[in-house]
Amino acid sequence: MYSDVFDVSDAMKKIVKIAAGFALCCASLGIGIQAFADAPALVVKSSDGERSFTASELLGRPDNKRVNLTGTVSGDIYRHEVEYRAVPVLALLGNHPEAHFDTVEVQATDGFVSEIPLTLVQRGAKNGAIAWLAVEDPAHPWPALPKETASAGPFYLIWQFPERSGVSREQWPYKVARISLAESPDHRWPQLAVPAAFAGDAGVKRGHDVFVVQCIACHKMNGGGAGNVGPDLGQPMNVTQYFKDAGLRALIRDPHKVRTWPEQRMIGFGPSVIPDADIEALLKYLHAMASAKQ
Ligand code: HEC
Repeated sequence: MYSDVFDVSDAMKKIVKIAAGFALCCASLGIGIQAFADAPALVVKSSDGERSFTASELLGRPDNKRVNLTGTVSGDIYRHEVEYRAVPVLALLGNHPEAHFDTVEVQATDGFVSEIPLTLVQRGAKNGAIAWLAVEDPAHPWPALPKETASAGPFYLIWQFPERSGVSREQWPYKVARISLAESPDHRWPQLAVPAAFAGDAGVKRGHDVFVVQCIACHKMNGGGAGNVGPDLGQPMNVTQYFKDAGLRALIRDPHKVRTWPEQRMIGFGPSVIPDADIEALLKYLHAMASAKQ
């Protein structure tokens, strides 16, 4: 036990030395650490391979447009007060996605990972909602996010006419660092899929679909998923084993009505985002996942 502690502190000393060496080396080369912070890159993994873009590269593209969001239904964190400069997400993804890629995985720097169906993005070309990657111009930064010092930048996935395709709030990831074409969540994480014993249960299936749209960006299920903002809802213990259904319903609608503390982060889902019937389906899915584990 003691030796573990010493190993850790030795490792820490090494890290400190390396960091100090790095800072010295940067100083001697005349590179400010700031220079790295000024050029955050967006990584895009598409049918054209993996590429990295800086904000100025994206702002210099000919397909860059000014986008003003309108309408009453929107997930825009800035409530239409920001005029965005943005590039079409479809153009970033390349023209010929391989058939087994049916998902656009969008990773944020804070652990939020949205799994967006590729068809939802593709419908933008057929009169559906249009997905844009808004790029923060370092010369004209966006406002800070509510309760934060940082903005939604440097990259923010926004939707024009979201009501046309029923785009949901969790499909507006901000602080984006990486966009990848990927296989479906169920394919990558079979433990998320509806268990065989519930294959004929439409409610469980519906609950699974709600989970993948609304919850998976932050919560894993039995280890499946890429998000890291909140706890895994299936393991070690499934939430239905320590929350009653009434408590879960209340928490999903508004976590502050169940318990509060200063660092609390989850935002509730009102009936316009998840209707009552979908909450019941979600509970059925959570229960099914508990019994599937036994
Ligand atoms: C934006 C991220 C985010 C999304 C989306 C989200 N949650 Fe959460 N959730 C959290 C965080 C973070 C916590 C930990 C408590 C806190 O900070 O609010 C949490 C806590 C919980 C808890 C309590 C778990 C425990 O053991 O205390 C439950 C249950 C839960 N979420 C269910 C859901 C469900 C169901 C959905 C989808 C409808 C969902 N959450 C969507 C971030 C999120």
